[in-house]
Order: sequence, then structure tokens, then C-alpha cells
Amino acid sequence: MNTLLENMHDGVREEGIRRAGEILRDGGLVAFPTETVYGLGADALDAEASGKIYRAKGRPSDNPLIVHIAEWDAIETITEDLPPQAKLLSDAFWPGPLTMVLKKSARVPYATTGGLDTVAVRMPSNEIALALIRAGGGYVAAPSANTSGRPSPTTAQHVLEDLGGAIDMIIDGGPVSIGLESTIVDLTEEIPVILRPGYISKEMLEKIVGEVRVDRGLLADDPSVRPKAPGMKYRHYAPKAPLFIVEGDRAHVREKINELTAAEYESGRLAGVVATDESFGVYMHAVVKSIGSRDQELTIAQHLYSILREFDLLEVSVIYSESFETPQMGPAIMNRLMKAAGHQVIRV
Ligand code: TXA
Ligand code: MG
Repeated sequence: MNTLLENMHDGVREEGIRRAGEILRDGGLVAFPTETVYGLGADALDAEASGKIYRAKGRPSDNPLIVHIAEWDAIETITEDLPPQAKLLSDAFWPGPLTMVLKKSARVPYATTGGLDTVAVRMPSNEIALALIRAGGGYVAAPSANTSGRPSPTTAQHVLEDLGGAIDMIIDGGPVSIGLESTIVDLTEEIPVILRPGYISKEMLEKIVGEVRVDRGLLADDPSVRPKAPGMKYRHYAPKAPLFIVEGDRAHVREKINELTAAEYESGRLAGVVATDESFGVYMHAVVKSIGSRDQELTIAQHLYSILREFDLLEVSVIYSESFETPQMGPAIMNRLMKAAGHQVIRV
């Protein structure tokens, strides 16, 4: 398949959006930028089109898709028994990086929800995404536009690497602004439950709807506790080299990483280090990359996935990463990093 590339670095181009909308309405696949990560879109109300997403990504069919909408009213079509919190959270955070899990209506095929009676809904804030959703009929199912098991794409180049030749079009809107997938909150329980942490933190949600819980499957080290979002049980984002997170007091972490990289170097191998702008200069005998600045946590989120992809292209034998317990996005950053590391932590 020939994958069309549409450049929209300077914003929405009507001509390209019209073409992309036609592809979606004909049951095809279009990758597009959102504020979180790039999405791989298909008509969410068309079972066959949704099915193509699973094949293109190599995604397990029990892993449901998020339906992206551009107007509040669209939520009436695809859900039932809408709880009052949905409108409150929409007023506070939509369009934006929040996904709500709600009871689905009969209009949404099980192919889109992975067989579940609930549907995940999100209204993204990216202008290109909103224009595409409107042009494509109003309901766009979109997982992250990566091959299953690879880090989510934060640039159109990442999408091309993974899915070039397998999808109809890629809209290039430049690098995304957040870099980690949306916060998912389940509103089908009496008390809302976070199924996946993201830019919208627990505290931000609690200001709007009161008590919010975190899914036990996210917290537990015990793998027998299954996360409620089916996608969270897979070991995503695993880099080729083993990844270890070094946790503890900052000075000790630096010392420990230097000790580990030196040992690697003496055995004739080269380690990789995920550092920050603040610590970049202190590491030796390793390929050192700065993920961003501790003073601006968004820069850490923005670069996490691209750094993992970069290390895959280098011949490093092992990767050591500092840990990032930052105030707003810390839980989201550490959730993704821990998954990439397969929960391998060195405590100092
Ligand atoms: O930021 C995002 O949410 C991005 C952009 C493209 O919007 N999308 C995204 O989709 O991250 P995906 O498919 O990579 O992740 C969706 C997650 C999966 O873990 C899936 O299991 C969960 O959402 N999910 C979807 N529908 C669900 C449902 N009805 N109940 C529970 N979890 C659900
Ligand atoms: Mg994904």
C-alpha cells in the first residue's frame, strides 16, 4: 500500500483534511497528531474499519480502542446512562488529554470496544485532530499509531517507521506537545477510577468530581491483579537493551549509575544513560542522553518515547535511567518508564 504523507506543520490544510476525511469514510486508516501522541484513526462506528487498525498495529483483539469526538453532543450517540461527572469533567478538561470510560450504546460495534459493553471517549484539543474527526464523520477510533509493543509515536517520522506502507495516510503536524497518552478515568463505577495516569492528574480530577481512586492493577507489584484497562497489562514500550531504573537520593543515584557504567565499560561494553539537563555532565563511559529538565516536567514527558526509540538504534548493552517523581506528571512518566523497564528497579 502507498502511504500518503500530508504536511500540516503550519496548521490545518483544508484540502488535505478533506482527502483524509474521505479515506476515513471509505473505511481506510489515517494517522494524525493529537496533543498526547499520534493516533491511528478509523471510523469507530464501522466494525470492518476498526478491524483494520488491529491488523495494521498487530494489536491483540481484546484491547479496546478510544473513540475520538469533536463535539459534546456526539457523546449521546455512543453512550448510555451518562453520569453527571462526564459533563463536569468535559467542561473542565475537554478538549484535552482526558479519556472517559462510559457505558456504550448499540451504535458502537464490539470490534471497536474489544468486546466490552463500555466505550472510552476522548475529545482531543489538537486542531488537526478536531478537523479530521469532523471530516471523517464525527467518530474516530484511534489507538496510538505505533506497532504494538513499540513506544508510542510522538512525531510523524515514528509513525512512518512503524506503519509506513500499511496505512492510507499520515498527517504530519510536527512533534506533539505532551508526549504521553491521555489520562483514562472510568466513570462506570460509583467513584471514578483512574485506569491510566496521564497529564491530567488525580488531584486535578478530584477538584472537579471529589474522590477519585486509582485502579489496583496499576499500583500492585503483584501481576495477578489485572489492570481494568486491557491495554495496561501488556508490556509496552520495551527497548531492545535491558532497562533499569535507579531510584533513591539524587547524589547516590548519580554515583551508582557511574559505578554501573564503569563496570560495563571495563568489560568492553557500552551502557546508555537516561539523564536530565541537570545531570547530563556527571556521567562517564556511557552514551548519555538528556530527557529534559527537572524544572519543566513536561519536557521529560515529551522526550520519553523518542529517547527509548533512539536507544534502540544504538549498540548499548544496557540502559540505566534516573527516576522522575515530578509533581503533576510523575505518576504518568513513572508508569510508562516502569513498564519499559519491566519493573526492574535498583534502589540505592
Ligand atoms: O492519548 C491517547 O489516549 C492516545 C491518542 C491517540 O488519543 N490514544 C491511545 O490509545 O493511547 P491506545 O489504544 O494506545 O490506548 C488505549 C487504552 C488501552 O490501554 C485500552 O485497553 C484502554 O485504553 N481502553 C480503551 N477502551 C476501554 C474500555 N472500554 N475500558 C477500559 N479500558 C479501555
Ligand atoms: Mg498505545
